Amino acid sequence: MNLTPKSLRAALGAHAPADLATAGVAPAAPGPRPLPSGVPILTVKDVCKRYDSDPDSPLVLDNVNMTVDRREIVALLGRSGSGKSTLLRIIAGLLSSTSGQVAVAGKPVSGPANDVAMVFQSFALFPWLTVLENVQVGLEARGVPPAEMRKRALAAIDLIGLDGFENAYPRELSGGMRQRVGFARALVLDPGILLLDEPFSALDVLTAETVRTDFLDLWGDGHLAIGAVLLVTHNIEEAVQMCDRILVMSSNPGRVAAEIEVTLPHPRVRTDPAFRQLVDHIYGLMTRRRKAAPGIAETLAAGLSLQLPHVSTNVLAGLMEMVDAEPHNGVADLPVISSALQMSTDDLLKVAETLQMLGFAEVVEGDIRLLPPARQFAQAELDVRKRLFADHLLQRIPLASHIRRVLQERPNHRAPRPRFETELEDHMSETAADETLKAMISWARYAEVFAYDGDTAQFHLDAEEEA
Ligand SMILES: Nc1ncnc2c1ncn2[C@@H]1O[C@H](COP(=O)(O)OP(=O)(O)O)[C@@H](O)[C@H]1O
Ligand SMILES: [Mg+2]
Repeated sequence: MNLTPKSLRAALGAHAPADLATAGVAPAAPGPRPLPSGVPILTVKDVCKRYDSDPDSPLVLDNVNMTVDRREIVALLGRSGSGKSTLLRIIAGLLSSTSGQVAVAGKPVSGPANDVAMVFQSFALFPWLTVLENVQVGLEARGVPPAEMRKRALAAIDLIGLDGFENAYPRELSGGMRQRVGFARALVLDPGILLLDEPFSALDVLTAETVRTDFLDLWGDGHLAIGAVLLVTHNIEEAVQMCDRILVMSSNPGRVAAEIEVTLPHPRVRTDPAFRQLVDHIYGLMTRRRKAAPGIAETLAAGLSLQLPHVSTNVLAGLMEMVDAEPHNGVADLPVISSALQMSTDDLLKVAETLQMLGFAEVVEGDIRLLPPARQFAQAELDVRKRLFADHLLQRIPLASHIRRVLQERPNHRAPRPRFETELEDHMSETAADETLKAMISWARYAEVFAYDGDTAQFHLDAEEEA
C-alpha cells in the first residue's frame, strides 16, 4: 500500500484511534532540539480539568503542577480514575485543560505538538498497514521524504527487536510484538518527551517484563533519541523499577500528592530489600486515609456523597479469611497479599479500603490490619457473619441506614430505585451513582438489611419484616 499524505490524512480522519497523538502535525527536524539550560522539557502549571462546563461538575484534575527534566524517566502513579490519562492527553495536546498551562520544551501546548509522542495501553495499530507502514505513519504525517522515512522506520523496528517483521500485519503478531510496534512508532519521531499511558498493562506478566527491561536497556545504553519519558502507571513496582522520580496522584480530584526520588542503581531487582522498602513506603502513601472516609455519618448529605465501590461480599470475606489465617494472624503486608492473590494493586486496595470503610480493617503504611469484628467474622458461621455485616453496614454506610429508614416509614415498605438514584446524583456522577447502588444492593442482600427486585426496580424490606 502506498501511503500518500492524502490517503493517510483521510485514514486518520475516518478511522484513526482517537488517540493517535501524531495526527496532523507539521514537518519537523528530527531529534530532540537542544534546550536552553534550566528549561524543563515539560512544565505543567496549575492545571485544572472538568469534563463538563458546569462549574459544579466534578473536578478531575485540581491544580496539578509538575516538571520533567531532560534525561529523566518520571512516573505518574495513581489509582484508576485519578486522572492520569486525562493529564497525559492534556500534555499531548489532545485535550484542553479547563485552566492552567502546559509547555513542552518551553513552548505552550495548544494542540498536538511535534515534540511529543505517545504509546497507549491498547496497541492502536492500523490493522490494514504492515509493521513498517504503521511505524512510518507519524513520519509521513510530518512530511518526511520517503527514502528517509523508510530508513528511520527500519532503524526503529530493528532497535525495538522486530527485525524481520517489517512486512507482517498486526494480526500476525503477538501482543508483546504489537506493543513493540507501538513503541517503534513513537520512537521513530525522536520526541523531546515520550508519553507512555500504561503501555505494559495489557500484556501478560512475562511479556510485560521483557518489553519493560528491553526498553530500559535501550534507554540506559543511550540508544534512544528521546529527551525524557513520562510513564503513567497504577503499578507501584513498575514505577519503582523504571523511574527516576515518582509523582503519586491522589483521586477525586486528581492531585499530585507526593513526590519520590528513586536513586536505586539499575538494573533494579524486585527482591532487593531497598526495592521492597520503597514499594512498601509508596503503598503507604497511596493508602493514606482520606479525610472524608471516617466519621462520615454526621449529616445525610455528607453520607450520600460517599461513593461505594462494587466489591462483592465474597471477595470481602475472602480477604478477611486470608488475613485472619496463618501466617498473617490479622496483619498482612499488602504487596505480599497482592502477589499471592495475583491481584493488581488497584483491585486489592479497593477491597482493603472497602473493609476499612466498613470498619473491618485499617489500612496503614502498606499493611492491612483486621479489627476484632473482622477476625470474629472470619471465624464465624454464615448467620453470625450476616449479622456482623448488617451491623457494620447500618453503622458505617449512611446510604444503607437511609434506604432502610425510608422503607420502614412507607406503609408498603417499598420504594422505587429512582427515589435514591436521583438523590445520589446530586452528589456524584451517574456512573458513580449506579456503581454505588449496585454495591449497596449486593451488600444489603447478603446482610439481609433490605431487598431489591430487579424486575420492578424496587427496594423493599424482607418479607419476614413486612409481615
Ligand atoms: N471523556 C470523558 N468524559 C467525562 N469524564 C471522563 C472522561 N474521561 C475520563 N473521565 C473521568 O475522569 C476521571 C479520570 O479519568 P482518567 O483520566 O481516565 O483516569 P486514569 O487514567 O487515572 O484511570 C474519571 O472519573 C473518569 O470517569
Ligand atoms: Mg488511564
